[in-house]
Formats: sequence, structure tokens, C-alpha cells
Amino acid sequence: MTILVTGAAGFIGFHVCQGLLARGERVLGVDNLNPYYDVALKEARLALLQAHAGFGFARVDIADREAMAAAVASARGSIAGVVHLAAQAGVRHSLVDPYAYVQANVMGQVVMLELCRTLPALEHLVYASSSSVYGGVAEAPFSTEARVDTPVSLYAATKTAGELIGHVYGHLHGVPATGLRFFTVYGPWGRPDMAYFTFARAILEGRPITLFNHGRMKRDFTCIDDVVPAVLNILDAPPAGDTGVPHRLYNVGNNRPEALTDFVAALERALGREALIEHAPMQPGDVEETWADIAVLQRDHGYAPKTTIAEGIPRFVAWYREHYGV
Ligand SMILES: NC(=O)c1ccc[n+]([C@@H]2O[C@H](COP(=O)([O-])OP(=O)(O)OC[C@H]3O[C@@H](n4cnc5c(N)ncnc54)[C@H](O)[C@@H]3O)[C@@H](O)[C@H]2O)c1
Repeated sequence: MTILVTGAAGFIGFHVCQGLLARGERVLGVDNLNPYYDVALKEARLALLQAHAGFGFARVDIADREAMAAAVASARGSIAGVVHLAAQAGVRHSLVDPYAYVQANVMGQVVMLELCRTLPALEHLVYASSSSVYGGVAEAPFSTEARVDTPVSLYAATKTAGELIGHVYGHLHGVPATGLRFFTVYGPWGRPDMAYFTFARAILEGRPITLFNHGRMKRDFTCIDDVVPAVLNILDAPPAGDTGVPHRLYNVGNNRPEALTDFVAALERALGREALIEHAPMQPGDVEETWADIAVLQRDHGYAPKTTIAEGIPRFVAWYREHYGV
């Protein structure tokens, strides 16, 4: 059987592919290697995946339905699972290029679900949503029971739309699907547009870092080492369709919100250098705090994230230093 992974050259997709390959799965990766951030990093991740005999790859845009159909044509009958992670990510960029978000995250989601409903051996679609869907929700920790109709960025709105579309395909066509609301995932081979990455680079280069909202922010930082086993366990256990729509949502977070200033201190310790800090007001589209309620994921899949930022940040820094030779 084959697992189709979209966004395979991306941060989380790369690690999920590694996890699947390590347990002997055949993986068909899809990615369009777009230039939202350094393409060389995506290519370097891909090169590692392509060293595995069990890995196949198609460079394709998930929003292009004909290209997607062609890319999976020869594997169609053997695809038992889909892990759909390709997306236009990043809250702030959605203020700059809104159309890219609608194209990749809304059209792309429809294309993936249309594809899934025609795959004869499909047992489960797991797709990425985001903690951003909680937007203006006041009550923390954020529960998947909470209403999420107050998004504060277009990125968040497209991710909520993705969840609603997932529900529709469960309701109309019985596509078994699980949406994962990831909370600030970080780690080796991470994303150059995210704060931990831009901060590390700036600190090493002696440039100042900007703390928005004057540093009064909290994030539920989740290490990739806790995320990958969660994704694989969830993939192995599709929602039961017997009690209604086979669609569910989980928070994948750490349930341990960290002050941005503590996070910067952890980076400074791991890098052995002090940050030059500049303060700035809150950015439009951003939220002050994220905090995942993970009780349901704990109950259903024994999810118990172990990695604190004191352990996880040095792992990222060690990779960063080796990869960039600094
Ligand atoms: N990293 C996080 O903290 C985080 C938090 C919340 C949600 N997410 C979600 O998790 C998923 C994976 O995120 P990531 O951090 O690995 O991001 P990433 O940008 O590193 O990975 C996404 C990959 O998808 C590819 N892609 C984008 N649009 C595409 C398209 N139209 N067709 C084909 N490929 C396309 C990109 O080239 C990239 O390699 C995304 O859906 C993202 O929205 C991530």
C-alpha cells in the first residue's frame, strides 16, 4: 500500500515522510517547491527523501486537478492513506498575497478531497489545519469544541474553510478524514519564515530581532519530534463512520504556552549569544496567545508531548549550525 503525502518537501511533510519510510511504508510525495521560502532548503529535504527506495515524488501543484490526477494515476489503486500538508502557510504573508492562500488552501483542499473520494483503497485522509483558526477565541486553552468563526487573518479563514470542506466530504461521500490543528511546530529542517528560524539567523549574524506586541506573546511551541508520532498514530486510526460523519479535528500542541521572552532566552542559551532586541506593536492578523487543549488527542491516541523548548531548541540550533555551517 502507498501513503500519499502532499507538501513532502515542506518542514512537517519531510519529517512525516521520514517517519513513514522508517516504518517501511511506500510513500508518494507531492510538492510544487514554490518559492515562498528558500527553495534550496526544500530541495535538500527532498534529496534526503529520494535516497529511500520506497519514496516516489511528483512536482505538482495540488490546486491543479488534472496534474494531480496524472501524478497519482499509476498509484491510485494502492493509496491507503493521504497526509495532506501542502498549503500556503504563514499568517503575515496572507495580508500580502491573499490569492495564494485561497488557491492552495481552499481550491487545493477541494482538489484533494475530490481525489480522495475516488481513491478505491483509501482508508484515511489526515490534513493540516492550524491553531490560527482560534483567532479571536478568548478562552484558553483552546478546545476543538470552541466556535471558530472569528478568524483574524485570511490564512486562518482558509484553514477553517478547509475544515468545513473536510466535513462536507465526510457527510456527502463518507471520506474518512481528520484535521489537525498544529500549534507552532518547530525543529530541525524547520521553516525559515517562522520566528525561531529568523531569530536564530539574526542572533548569529548580530542583527536585532523584533519582538512584536513588545514581547507580550505566548506560544504553545510544539517540537516536530512530538508531532510526527502523533500524525502516524492518527493516520492508523480513521474515524469510525458508524456514529455519524467520519470527520474529526484534533489539536496537536504542547499544552504548555511559553512566553516569547523565555523562548528567546532558550535560543540565546542554545546559540551561546545574546539577542539584540527591538520592540514593536502587535502585527495585524496576529494573536497574543496560543494554548492547545490536547485532552481529546491524549484520550484517543495516548498523545503525550514530551519535548520542552529547553530540549527542542538546542536540537533545532544543532541542525541549523550543521546545515548552514555556522
Ligand atoms: N509549522 C507550523 O507551525 C504549522 C502550524 C499550523 C499549521 N501548519 C500547517 O501544516 C502544514 C505544513 O506546514 P509546514 O510548516 O511544513 O509548511 P511548509 O511551507 O514548510 O510546507 C508546505 C509545503 O507545501 C508546498 N506547497 C505549498 N503550496 C502548494 C501547492 N499549491 N501545491 C503543492 N505543494 C504546495 C510548499 O512548497 C511546501 O514545501 C501546512 O498546511 C500548514 O498550514 C503548520
